[in-house]
Amino acid sequence: ADPDPLQDFCIADLEAQPSINGFPCKPASSVTSDDFFFDGLSKEGNTGNVFGANVTAGNVRAFPGLNTLGLSMNRVDFALGAVNPPHIHPRSTELVLVIKGKLLVGFVTTGNVFHSKVVTRGKLFVIPRGLVHFQKNVGKGKALAFTAFDSQLPGVVNLPLTLFGSTPPIPNDVLIKGFQVDEDVVKGIKSKFGN
Ligand code: GLV
Ligand code: MN
Repeated sequence: ADPDPLQDFCIADLEAQPSINGFPCKPASSVTSDDFFFDGLSKEGNTGNVFGANVTAGNVRAFPGLNTLGLSMNRVDFALGAVNPPHIHPRSTELVLVIKGKLLVGFVTTGNVFHSKVVTRGKLFVIPRGLVHFQKNVGKGKALAFTAFDSQLPGVVNLPLTLFGSTPPIPNDVLIKGFQVDEDVVKGIKSKFGN
């Protein structure tokens, strides 16, 4: 979904101020083969967090060679029972490829229809751009997936963190009315996300 490039490549200079779109290119004279190589998805991520899932991002910020090329990839590691919580990518469709284990992958349409599937090794599930989605490890051990995006920087709106862990926090009365729950429920969730 990113714009088409007007040159072969443009290795991002991450130190430079991003301009209208994307990052400025580093000087062509300093480009080497290493700029097209990224080993950041080769290691298991640390799943020691409340969700039990870890997303290692392979976007343009991690892999500057992707700048202007319109695609990127993440690695997602899942401990037993882990959930990669409901989130949105505002700028990209997502393709989930399961490498190991068994994942329940699901999304909800703008018409409020829930689509989901248990996905196993070698199989794909596609999540249309901008829709709320999640993955849950429903297998008997760890699980591993790689996710591919048609954007160099898909962006993430993590719903639990966005709604209950923002800075500054969303006022409690908005969440109480919005979710039709009592104040202690809102406070309890907020406390889990640093608010
Ligand atoms: C998984 O949903 C991911 O965004 O990598
Ligand atoms: Mn996602």
